[in-house]
Amino acid sequence: MKIVLACDHGGFQLKETIKEHLVINGYDINDIGVYNTESVDYPDYGKKAAENVAGNEADRGIVICGTGIGISIAANKVKGIRCALCTNEFMARMSRMHNNANMLALGERVIGKGLALNIVDAWLSTDFEGGRHERRVNKLMDIEKTLKVEE
Ligand code: RB5
Repeated sequence: MKIVLACDHGGFQLKETIKEHLVINGYDINDIGVYNTESVDYPDYGKKAAENVAGNEADRGIVICGTGIGISIAANKVKGIRCALCTNEFMARMSRMHNNANMLALGERVIGKGLALNIVDAWLSTDFEGGRHERRVNKLMDIEKTLKVEE
């Protein structure tokens, strides 16, 4: 499975920890930055990672900022993205089973490294349930079709 990783300065340390963990576990990682703690703008990285997933260059995306909020909002503005901000393993599993989330957002300043890795593992190893959830996810994606294009 190919995974794109991105973060801002607030998520850099956790991104490095997750990258190491995923590489050890045999995942194909595309780390699109940042590569240090110099201050940057999280929308740039959330958007870039989301475009990577939406464009099928990666199967899934994991994005990290201080809270996970800003970078998840950015990712969710890209067509085709369902980015779930998770603070525990239950949310991670449910975001896959019910929402078919194709991106995971985490907050480095919110959760510890151990919990973050457990969330990542739960999220990557849980399948979408389909069935009635497929109809609901389709309705989610239909919302994108109602968005007005700027003239
Ligand atoms: C950066 O200071 C911080 O605002 C950012 O990492 C994130 O928490 C935004 O939602």
